[in-house]
Amino acid sequence: MSETTTEQTENTQTAGKTTAGPSRRALLGWGGAGLALGAAAAGGTAAALRTGSDASPAASLGDAVPFYGAHQAGIATAVQDRLHFAAFDVTTTDRAALIKLLQEWTAAAARMTAGHEVGTGAIGDNAELPPDDTGEALGLKPSRLTLTFGVGPGLFEKDGKDRFGLKARRPQALIDLPAFPKDNLDAARSGGDLCVQACADDPQVAVHAIRNLARIAMGRAAIRWSQLGFGKTSSTTPDAQTPRNMMGFKDGTRNIDGSDTAALDKHVWVGEKDGPAWMVGGSYLVARRIRMHIETWDRTSLTEQEDVFGRDKAEGAPVGKRKERDEPNLKAMKPDAHVRLAHPDSNNGIRILRRGYSFTDGTDGLGRLDAGLFFIAYQRDVRDGFVPLQTKLAREDALNEYIQHVGSAIFAVPPGVRDAGDWWGKSLFA
Ligand code: HEM
Repeated sequence: MSETTTEQTENTQTAGKTTAGPSRRALLGWGGAGLALGAAAAGGTAAALRTGSDASPAASLGDAVPFYGAHQAGIATAVQDRLHFAAFDVTTTDRAALIKLLQEWTAAAARMTAGHEVGTGAIGDNAELPPDDTGEALGLKPSRLTLTFGVGPGLFEKDGKDRFGLKARRPQALIDLPAFPKDNLDAARSGGDLCVQACADDPQVAVHAIRNLARIAMGRAAIRWSQLGFGKTSSTTPDAQTPRNMMGFKDGTRNIDGSDTAALDKHVWVGEKDGPAWMVGGSYLVARRIRMHIETWDRTSLTEQEDVFGRDKAEGAPVGKRKERDEPNLKAMKPDAHVRLAHPDSNNGIRILRRGYSFTDGTDGLGRLDAGLFFIAYQRDVRDGFVPLQTKLAREDALNEYIQHVGSAIFAVPPGVRDAGDWWGKSLFA
């Protein structure tokens, strides 16, 4: 057995401060010395490293986002730098096996988000068996990993079949998204019965999480498609500098602030009157893989680029204003400017919480980058959120000359996991 499970924490002195953390020796199992040295070389204190120990205080180090709560983390919580989003097809037809999977997933997610290894860890306690954890996150910090879980329409009904006895529990808001003008959707990059959005500041931590969940799912669910994202294109923390998208513009200026509980209750969280009861405190997620015609964009004049958005490129200020946060004068923008069309004043007050990421997935074989925005939006009801917004944008937005929607999915994201006795989707199966 690795020493990881025998000696778990000790106090480490750093610059006069005392922080409780896993001891260096705690990491020295078979091969553990290399891991500890690698981590030290990476500049971290041993205190913040992943270990198999439940007693390691990763969550107290300010680097782990709490997993348990009224709402799932990864929606209103601060946006991390990296994304690995995965949609799964459920392959089992057995309801009990599906429930067991969700219980196992939840237990693994609680551990990984706290910076722990899955199960008995990457070294494990039996060398004759494959270890529970795949190991590539050993020595890495929790990196603010959040894992956000959702269920797609196919879980309730597929090919006319009520596969798991859930058909009557399908929320009315979990619609099949309509076809929008100019959509060019690839079925292989769309849909899914389940989804997990993994966000972290370290890409390896996000990928490790999805990989381990996929591994646990073997024989019960399989990845249908997944998407890596490298640069956040949104912000839920208005004080932070707004990131830029692949078109070079600040993206996320006017998003819902993750600390604005009134706005979250109004626009993001499902309320008691909305129903169904199992979704109260949850939200609806729309994901769209939006490819950008980067090469065309890069040959477009700065004036045209700024007209397309209705904001300037350097500062992100709305037309006629000086600062990014100045109130936009929509009438000063071109009628087909993206911001003018998407602004709540043009849409009966509709607001969505955007949480997208940039992607670049190599080239398309024709010498063009396969790059764009993996758009993610959360809302209380897509019928009063993404659907009317996108209906308008798809028809009128000047941006359409430079983008194309190539993937699409919708998921109902249940409320948060309350405690260790709760699990993803428990209220749905109750
Ligand atoms: C590749 C596609 C897209 C790009 C590059 C893009 C880019 C931008 C940029 C640069 C802004 C201005 C800064 C800001 O307030 O965040 C913005 C605002 C916004 N976008 Fe997009 N966007 C895209 C797709 C979409 C889609 C599909 C929707 C919804 C269906 C959407 C909804 C919004 C909303 C609601 C705003 C804020 C408007 C306001 O309140 O002023 N965007 N977008």
